[in-house]
Amino acid sequence: MNAKIRISRRRFVGGLAAAAGYFSLPSQSAVWAQSSVVVNESADTYDSLVKLCYNENPYGPPASVMDAMTKALKYANRYGYPDGGIASEIARHHGVQTDNVVLGAGSTEILEVVADAFLQDRKKIISVEPTFGSVFEFATGQRARAIKLPLTSDYRQDIPAMIRAAKENASDIGFIYICNPNNPTGAIVTKSEIKQLLDGIPENIPVLMDEAYHHFVDDPEYSTAVPQVIEGRPVIVARTFSKIAALAGMRLGYGIAPAGLIERMRPFASSMTVNVLAKWAGVAALKDTAAMDKVRTETIRLRKQTITDLTALGFNVIPSQGNFFMVHIRRNVGPVIQAFRQKGILVGRPFPPMTEHLRVTVGSADDMDKFMKGFKEIVAVKSSTG
Ligand SMILES: Cc1ncc(COP(=O)(O)O)c(C=O)c1O
Repeated sequence: MNAKIRISRRRFVGGLAAAAGYFSLPSQSAVWAQSSVVVNESADTYDSLVKLCYNENPYGPPASVMDAMTKALKYANRYGYPDGGIASEIARHHGVQTDNVVLGAGSTEILEVVADAFLQDRKKIISVEPTFGSVFEFATGQRARAIKLPLTSDYRQDIPAMIRAAKENASDIGFIYICNPNNPTGAIVTKSEIKQLLDGIPENIPVLMDEAYHHFVDDPEYSTAVPQVIEGRPVIVARTFSKIAALAGMRLGYGIAPAGLIERMRPFASSMTVNVLAKWAGVAALKDTAAMDKVRTETIRLRKQTITDLTALGFNVIPSQGNFFMVHIRRNVGPVIQAFRQKGILVGRPFPPMTEHLRVTVGSADDMDKFMKGFKEIVAVKSSTG
């Protein structure tokens, strides 16, 4: 195993831990308790939990994808197996060439590769807080090298502030990270804001657009940044099969960027981290658009319904375009997370500085019934009894 791969694995595990919030909580042991249940408990216990903590797809891969993985199993003993044409399929899907595509073991690996490639020489990353934390972990063990801007008062990413920070620190900036829609808030950066950002920053600064939740957006003001990649702007779009395609456990993601940026990333990307099942699964998932549409439609329906129900109980919910939302529970989320855990319901970790906002994944209809029942017992208890 070469050094690069060893480092990648260490950072990858570190990144997942960061994503799960192990390092950034007031009470880390409490969260370890919550998270280690998921990792260490028996399969039966795990299966019985209502899992609304990691923005996963509750439905699992469709039959077409399961079939593809079953067929790929016979190559489990090989290095030089046929890979199903995954890079070409991704390129075809987006109308780009394969030299615009880099694969990763989840989009987490893409974020790491971007950090490795563009944060040489102690360069800094510009982003907001809170956002998907992994990127900051990869950006250092290196919190010192991030310019973290606060969200606007309506929980949106502050594009004018990003432009100012990029101009003021131009020679120090490695890249700008935008999570669109943002995890944990669910708020989008609109297509006109993307244009404003790209037109406003020094043109040599790459922008990493993390579109992990792209498929759950129904706001017409949103657009993917793939057209900007095709135009040749310095944009890297990161996508994952972990959300809409229900393949979080398989680890498959990719980056799309102009060939020159991909060339700078390639030396940091391992060709060995993505396995044969994931590649065949990815090809089948991209082809099964009906299955993806079904997940999208049901998730958006349940997101709207749950937000309506919470609002009717008197709680504000940040308008969300992801497969999750944040509800303002007007108290510290820590004990509430634990109270849900006691009921076998896993909800999101705290996201400082938004410590009174609970992040909840949109699960299945049954999951959301259980969540609402728990919410009424734990959070809305005073309101409902007057
Ligand atoms: C915004 C965002 N980006 C990237 C990821 C990483 O996903 P994966 O590594 O499973 O592709 C996540 C996971 O939750 C996420 O929320």
